[in-house]
Amino acid sequence: MSTPTLYAPIDLQRLPKHVGIIMDGNGRWAKQNKLKVAMGHRAGTEALREIIRNSSDIGIQALSLYAFSTENWNRSQAEVEALMQLILDFFHSEIDELDEKNVRITILGDKSALPEKQREALIQAEERTGKNTGLKLNIAINYGGRAELVRAAQLLAQDVKAGALSPEAFTEELFADRLYTAGMPDVDLMIRTSGEMRLSNFMLWQCSYAEFVFPTVLWPDFDLRQYHQCIAEFQGRKRRFGKREE
Ligand code: IPE
Ligand code: IPE
Ligand code: MG
Repeated sequence: MSTPTLYAPIDLQRLPKHVGIIMDGNGRWAKQNKLKVAMGHRAGTEALREIIRNSSDIGIQALSLYAFSTENWNRSQAEVEALMQLILDFFHSEIDELDEKNVRITILGDKSALPEKQREALIQAEERTGKNTGLKLNIAINYGGRAELVRAAQLLAQDVKAGALSPEAFTEELFADRLYTAGMPDVDLMIRTSGEMRLSNFMLWQCSYAEFVFPTVLWPDFDLRQYHQCIAEFQGRKRRFGKREE
């Protein structure tokens, strides 16, 4: 494979294993450009394509993208419908290329509450790419971090009830195995665009030692230069994990 172009000085040998992105700012971008909010979301999916492709090209192991939160149902019906349509369009138009690139798609979140067409498209994408061994692409749709933790606790409780596990045997590993991200490394780098500095219920467990970067750019304007700058910023950080610096 040819060496991918880098837009900031980054060391491909020390990439974050798992990158999370809270893709925020579509609404403000639409407003700035005097467009309807749905157009902001559409522009956002263009940015998304480029970031996914590049993550696969430079060799990121796992990429988790926040596309729709459990709280986003509280937006207007028109906006929710536009987002649902975009989700469908995205999977229809991207699935062939993603599969060809050996990308493995996992949906984070509760698919059962989604409209049927969307649910089917997501299940199909997971099944079709399930054996792929390249980039692990996690797309969070109807996802909430607390709901994910409660679900993991329920799954453990069921194992206890079935006599397969005793409460004393609970470990962090067993808990992590019951999250949507089972088998994946923790998030190393979490990016949130648009200048907001909060998690908004995204990957609460997986971010315990993540480095955070908050570029002020709105999501539809987030490009490879911005992305590589975030990675460079990550690579310049000192991660201590509680230890004393030598
Ligand atoms: C993020 O953009 C996308 C989703 C939440 C689906 P927003 O729609 O939240 O954009 P702002 O925050 O209003 O600018
Ligand atoms: C978080 O953004 C959810 C996604 C990006 C999908 P929001 O725009 O919904 O978050 P708040 O409301 O600003 O916290
Ligand atoms: Mg927002």
